[in-house]
Amino acid sequence: MLELTDVSKHYGGIKAVDKVSFKVYPNEVVGLIGPNGSGKTTMMDLISGHTPLTSGHIVFNGQDITRHNATKIARAGIRRTFQTTSLFKDCTVLENLSIASHLEDKRSLFNVTTRKQSQLNIEHKSLELLEFVGIDSAYADRSVSELSTADQRRLMVAMAMVGDPAFILLDEPSAGMIVGERDDFQHLLLKIKNRGISILIVEHHMRLLSKICDRMVVLNFGKVIADDKPEIVQRDPVVVEAYLGRGSAAHAHG
Ligand SMILES: Nc1ncnc2c1ncn2[C@@H]1O[C@H](COP(=O)(O)OP(=O)(O)O)[C@@H](O)[C@H]1O
Ligand SMILES: [Mg+2]
Repeated sequence: MLELTDVSKHYGGIKAVDKVSFKVYPNEVVGLIGPNGSGKTTMMDLISGHTPLTSGHIVFNGQDITRHNATKIARAGIRRTFQTTSLFKDCTVLENLSIASHLEDKRSLFNVTTRKQSQLNIEHKSLELLEFVGIDSAYADRSVSELSTADQRRLMVAMAMVGDPAFILLDEPSAGMIVGERDDFQHLLLKIKNRGISILIVEHHMRLLSKICDRMVVLNFGKVIADDKPEIVQRDPVVVEAYLGRGSAAHAHG
């Protein structure tokens, strides 16, 4: 469903992403891992259209999206979360979801006759999404700043799911969670997979990754050094070496 061919992104002399090729199949969960600075976030930016490619091709569901901008890619069904929280902290939980919905459905902003109906639909769908990601509906009308870090991360996932995308990109979605919260979050990711949504996830918690991923793609200095089942990747000497070269695997992140 998603196919990357020789995708590169250069910043001056820095090859942040260097001729990367891999595929993500329908309903697959793929982990994108690698040491700090290996190009993971840049990879997400390239797929979601937040930064243009230097060279290479990206095809999604048979459509060449290489030169599409972020809005067009979102419309095609690829949504993302960001490594840093991108929530409107002073708005309520429901308002954040509503903003995401209006961006999704521009008609509701400009067509007066459908606006009221849309607003009701959006509120209904937003509440459904809150329940799906496991945020107590009591928080719907509270400010985002009142949510725990874990719930803010869940809200980011909910916002990425507005409009039923076929594919979501998650950049370190469990950052800032404690162990128990991360276990619950793991269930949420599996629930998303069970909805038939494909996931590409950047994450440094190997325990979480190995429980949810069908496959792992490993980057090092912008290049793919491994692409296989989690249990194989984790024992791959080349992968172990890449992590050990820059500190221990357990602490490698970025
Ligand atoms: N906007 C940018 N301008 C210049 N260099 C960048 C930019 N974004 C990323 N880089 C560089 O690209 C490399 C990969 O960064 P990044 O994709 O953020 O890595 P990761 O997410 O794996 O930690 C790093 O060397 C980083 O300094
Ligand atoms: Mg990153």
